[in-house]
Amino acid sequence: MPTFGSLPLVTPRLTLRPLGETDAPAFFAIYSHPEVMRFWSSPPLTDVAQARKSVLAIEEGYRCGDFLQLGLERQRDAALIGTCTIFSFHAASRRAEMGYALGRPYWGAGYMHEALTALVHYAFGELNLHRLEADIDPRNRASARTLERLGFQQEGLLRERWIVGDEISDTAWYGWLCWEWQNNLQITRG
Ligand SMILES: CC(C)(COP(=O)(O)OP(=O)(O)OC[C@H]1O[C@@H](n2cnc3c(N)ncnc32)[C@H](O)[C@@H]1OP(=O)(O)O)[C@@H](O)C(=O)NCCC(=O)NCCS
Repeated sequence: MPTFGSLPLVTPRLTLRPLGETDAPAFFAIYSHPEVMRFWSSPPLTDVAQARKSVLAIEEGYRCGDFLQLGLERQRDAALIGTCTIFSFHAASRRAEMGYALGRPYWGAGYMHEALTALVHYAFGELNLHRLEADIDPRNRASARTLERLGFQQEGLLRERWIVGDEISDTAWYGWLCWEWQNNLQITRG
């Protein structure tokens, strides 16, 4: 399992930092919103106590090195506007999955692209991962665009993989390899 060094990650507008107990109310605001949770793998939170429990589990995952969920703190006002996660590490294959969510008021301003650019750099660089994966609902066009803009490729469609409440949904499976990311960096740098 990795040890999570060299944190927080700093981007032009955001600080990606470990979460703590005091983040529970902002975490609840994000993960209780029906639009944010529309294509999520679990129903919206209904009680701030659930957010507190999640934050405790996130802190534990961080301590153990098997789960990294970072808060996106906006620098200009210190608001916690979202989170991004690396999880399901497979040490021998040097792969993991990535997940992310942005609070509803903050959509459409490029924040997640900015955050994930830094997170991917950390995953392929500091954590030495070989492969990153993402599992999204194929109807979630904003999420698909977010992944594709970074460089992820859709690799498959897994039918009826999720049951959340009374809704059954498919998975669009995305992957990105470290050497593809490195090639992209070289092209960008010219
Ligand atoms: C997915 C999410 C993180 C995107 O964050 P964002 O910073 O608002 O993303 P952007 O506004 O930069 O939009 C990303 C792209 O999707 C496009 N887009 C946004 N909403 C769209 C929609 N309803 N239909 C089609 N495309 C859409 C944007 O035009 C943009 O495309 P571009 O890069 O070509 O300009 C955010 O919508 C979110 O948190 N959603 C809820 C949680 C979630 O679904 N997480 C992913 C599940 S793993």
